[in-house]
Amino acid sequence: MVIRIAAVGDVHLDEDVVGRFRPALDQLPGHADVLLLAGDLTRHGTEAEARCVAREFGGLGVPVVTVLGNHDHQCDQVPEVVGALEEVGITVLEGTGTVLDTPGGRLGIAGAKGFGGGFAGRCASEFGEPEMKAFVRTTSTIADRLGTVLRELDCDTRVALTHYAPVPDTLAGEPLEIYPFLGSYLLGQAIDSADTALAIHGHAHAGSERGTTPGGVRVRNVAHPVIKQAYSLFHLGDHLDAGEVSTAAAGGISQPWS
Ligand SMILES: [Fe+2]
Ligand SMILES: [Fe+2]
Repeated sequence: MVIRIAAVGDVHLDEDVVGRFRPALDQLPGHADVLLLAGDLTRHGTEAEARCVAREFGGLGVPVVTVLGNHDHQCDQVPEVVGALEEVGITVLEGTGTVLDTPGGRLGIAGAKGFGGGFAGRCASEFGEPEMKAFVRTTSTIADRLGTVLRELDCDTRVALTHYAPVPDTLAGEPLEIYPFLGSYLLGQAIDSADTALAIHGHAHAGSERGTTPGGVRVRNVAHPVIKQAYSLFHLGDHLDAGEVSTAAAGGISQPWS
């Protein structure tokens, strides 16, 4: 049996953009068991923008599970943003997990926004000024929690959902100088600490789609400017190489905005 996962990130909705995804999303129940949103749902994290997200992704006929991104924190209205999403039944994860019963088995999703710090050999370390220690400690705390939640999920298939990238592979195309602000290898280590089938992230608008953790877990950057369609579709099955599905056939739309 196969579990069908649709995913997109960085939709950055506001009043100007709301409605563009909906025609493709209305087709989802025929193609996917769940929709994962990889953060940066809004432009500036206002409650009004979150209501646009709720209109776009509410009542889809499939469960919707999300993490927030850095943009969703910008106006310091996280409780209001989360409230608007939960009001329409969207599950918001932050250092938490959820398990969904699907025809292909129990799908466990562990989610966290993640944070920066960089990648092995080129990363910030918990040394020196309090501000630098706090920066790195923020990431390590989030990553530790993500690993714990992943390992403790009682499910058949595990998926990790973050906004920040767990590997540098999917940043290819971004300037090297900003890699430390796009993700952290600590997230990758957390993902590798469990039997994770797939890791989904966003945030890297100019990055690339495919990567792999050091432990061999498939990583996919589903930032909308990267995938250029309403969502990507992944089939997870008994064999590891159950793969991506053409989203054109699934009603994916191509939109150039970022
Ligand atoms: Fe973004
Ligand atoms: Fe972002």
